[in-house]
Amino acid sequence: NSDLDQKAKSILIENDQGGYTVPTKGLYPYQWNWDSVFVALGFATFDQDRAWREIEMLFEGQWRDGMVPHILFRKDDPSYFPGPSVWGTNGGPIPSSGHSQPPVAATVIRELVDTDVTGLAHDRALYRAGALFPKLMQWHRWFLAYRDPDDLGVIAVIHPWESGRDNLPDWDEALRAVEIADIGPYERKDTSHVDPSMRPQKADYDRYLSIMAACRAVDWDPAEVARTCPFFVADPGVTFIFLRANRDLLSLAERLGRDAEAEEIRGWIAKMEAGAKTLWHEGLKAHVAFDERSGKLTDGISSASFLALYAGIRDETTMASLQAHFDRIASKVRYLMPSYDPDHASYEPLRYWRGPVWAMINYMIARGFAEAGDTTRAERLRADTADLIETGGFAEYFSPETGAAAGGGTFSWTSAIWLSWAS
Ligand code: DGY
Repeated sequence: NSDLDQKAKSILIENDQGGYTVPTKGLYPYQWNWDSVFVALGFATFDQDRAWREIEMLFEGQWRDGMVPHILFRKDDPSYFPGPSVWGTNGGPIPSSGHSQPPVAATVIRELVDTDVTGLAHDRALYRAGALFPKLMQWHRWFLAYRDPDDLGVIAVIHPWESGRDNLPDWDEALRAVEIADIGPYERKDTSHVDPSMRPQKADYDRYLSIMAACRAVDWDPAEVARTCPFFVADPGVTFIFLRANRDLLSLAERLGRDAEAEEIRGWIAKMEAGAKTLWHEGLKAHVAFDERSGKLTDGISSASFLALYAGIRDETTMASLQAHFDRIASKVRYLMPSYDPDHASYEPLRYWRGPVWAMINYMIARGFAEAGDTTRAERLRADTADLIETGGFAEYFSPETGAAAGGGTFSWTSAIWLSWAS
């Protein structure tokens, strides 16, 4: 559909701020970590150089300790809250938020290298991957040191925003345990851009800000944050994305002749393959979140449960149970994959991460199914994503029931996923 291709390209160009792209104007006026990385896939379909630039600019914000922040505040924009002064960080060269986001970069960088398969273009891609490689190593080491300090082989998030899936029901119980700090009055901006019924609630925001206050109190020192943060929940989303990213990082290490690093990464992969069992919920027959502070597993299936396949966890039990969950959920909603199980009491079809479908999650889940040999379910996800975009446009997310567009409009990563996969 060349009209939609054109529209998708023009959204990326429109959201381009000169080397980096905002997710959408107004609602998210800065550079977001995993948004940017998915955006690179979109640029790669018509401008390889620009695709690399997106990721390179993201890594310009890397902290001294290795962390790559979830938001880079390259210039102040009053349309967003909480801005740089609320975060109060000083760990890196560019004002930023204080935590990270799902590490999709190594996977997409490998993808960029694999797309340019011949001659000079391939050499150039490999050269640029080589320049990013040490930064990726540093970032991945940071995740292992400060988001898995007890060596469980799973990655925790210190804030719902770090998971990228902000108001997921999985965080509810852990958030309830967060004491509300003296955060004073504050004015949200998101609900002036988007219908509040599609956004997190005030009770969530009070806790989002309270966690930030606790981290500010230890000056965002990563070891202190890991030790004292009131929220510390192992996330199947970040864990599986990280495990997958390590496999792709290993492939890059091998091609770049980085033998010592390759050996180090093999160790991480082995540890995480074993660690993933920590997230297995025997009753649900799926991977869920694990609250490391309370020692409890959560009780619902989210779209990230399906990312086990993308992470390369494809034993018979996982495969069969995910196929069964997929079919059950498909019988409940018209469009896959809802971000939360429609059979769960906390499911809400239009509220952000409590039910809506997200294009880039579908892309990752589909890759996992395809790589596991289940091309039928992979194709179903692609077709649903294409239908949603064809009828609802390049929205932030969509209702799994009606396909209605929800959240922000003219969204960069939805456009990128259209160009690189769904169309
Ligand atoms: C927001 O502001 O809602 C973002 O999702 C935080 O990353």
